[in-house]
Amino acid sequence: MPVTFTQSALLLSLMLGFGQAQATGQQSPTALATANGIPHPAVIAHRGASFDAPESTAAAYKLARDLGADYLELDLQRSKDGVLFALHDDNLQRTTDVAIKFPERKDSPANAFTLAELKTLDAGSWFNTAYPDRARAHYAGLKILTLDEVIDIAQGNPLHKPGLYIETKEPKQFPGIERDLKDKLQDRGWLSPIGSKLAKSELSVGQGKGKVVLQTFDKGSLEMLHKEMPQVPKILLLWVGAGGIDAKSNLTYAESGDKDKATYYARQEPKDNAAFEQWVDYAKAQGAIGTGPSATLTRLGDQSYSDLVKPWMNQYTHDKGLLVHVYTIDDDVDYKKVMDAGVDGIFTNRASELLKYYKRPMTGSVAQLLEVNGY
Ligand code: G3P
Ligand code: CA
Repeated sequence: MPVTFTQSALLLSLMLGFGQAQATGQQSPTALATANGIPHPAVIAHRGASFDAPESTAAAYKLARDLGADYLELDLQRSKDGVLFALHDDNLQRTTDVAIKFPERKDSPANAFTLAELKTLDAGSWFNTAYPDRARAHYAGLKILTLDEVIDIAQGNPLHKPGLYIETKEPKQFPGIERDLKDKLQDRGWLSPIGSKLAKSELSVGQGKGKVVLQTFDKGSLEMLHKEMPQVPKILLLWVGAGGIDAKSNLTYAESGDKDKATYYARQEPKDNAAFEQWVDYAKAQGAIGTGPSATLTRLGDQSYSDLVKPWMNQYTHDKGLLVHVYTIDDDVDYKKVMDAGVDGIFTNRASELLKYYKRPMTGSVAQLLEVNGY
C-alpha cells in the first residue's frame, strides 16, 4: 500500500526548502511542515478524488484515500438539525437531485434541510450526466456524507490513513460551527495528544501531529478556529476581490467585458504588494501556519483564479515562517509551474496525477481502486 513520504518527494522538498531557509534565516518550509506533521510537499485531495468520482461522496474519498493522498479535503456545513456534513456549494442544485425531490425548496440553502432530508438526495447521478466519459453506474444514488462518515473513511484503510483538511465554508451562515467542529473532532479522538507510538508514524498522516488541518477564507473564522483549537495547524485561504485581498481594479466581471470568468480572474491582482502582504501578516498574527492561495491555470477553466503564487509571494510567505498550499491544480504543466514557484503543497481534484507527478507509489490505477471499493 502507498506510503505518504517518499524519499524522492522528501529530497525534492529539502532541496527547495534549503535555499529559502538559507536566504531568509527562517526555518525552512520542509522543517516547518515536518514540525507540524504535514507532508512536504502535501497532496490534498480536493473534495476527494473529485475528477474521477462525484465530489465529496464516499466514492471520491475512498479513492483518494486508497491512492495514497495525504489529506481528504472537505467543505463543512451544518444541517438544520445540527449535523456537520460535507458539501461545497451553498445550495444543493448542482450536485444533487433536489429539484426533483424538493421542487419548492430547490433554491434553499443546504442548511435549511435536516440530515434525514439531505440523505434522501442522489449526490452522484449529476456527475454521470456532466462527465459521461467518467460515468459509472454505481455513482447513481451516492449520498451526501456527514463529517462522521468522512472520518470513518479516513480511518478505514489499515494500510493508509490520510488526514483531514477541513474548510469552514461560509462560516457566517453557521454561528458556532468552529466549536461544533472541535467537539466532533474531540469525540472522535482526532484532537488527542499524539502518543509516543503514533508520533513515530510519519508515514501515516491521519495518525500523526498534522492529522487535521483547518482552512478558511474568513478572518473571523480563523480567529475562532484558533481559539477553539490552538494546537491544530491552520491555513488562511487567499483570494483577490470581495471579502479577500483588495484588488487593483474594482470592475466587476459584468463590467469587465471579459469573455469568461477565468479570463477576468486572471487579470485580477492585488492592489499592490502591501495588500497581499497584509493578508499573510494577518495569517501569521492569528496563529495560522500557512496560506492557501489561488492560482491561474494554464488552460483557465472554472477553477482558475488570480495568480497568488508568484515566486515573490511564496518567498514573502516563507520569510514569515509560513507554508503555501495552493488551490486547485490538476495538470502537470501547472504542478511544475507552482512547484517551481515554491509552493509546499497542492489541492488537486486529481490525486492520482499529483502522486504520479511527485513519483509517489500507488497500489493501483484509478479504475482498479474504484472497482475494489464497489464502484
Ligand atoms: O479549500 C481550498 C479550495 O477548496 C478553496 O476553494 O471553493 O473549492 O472551496 P473551494
Ligand atoms: Ca474547499
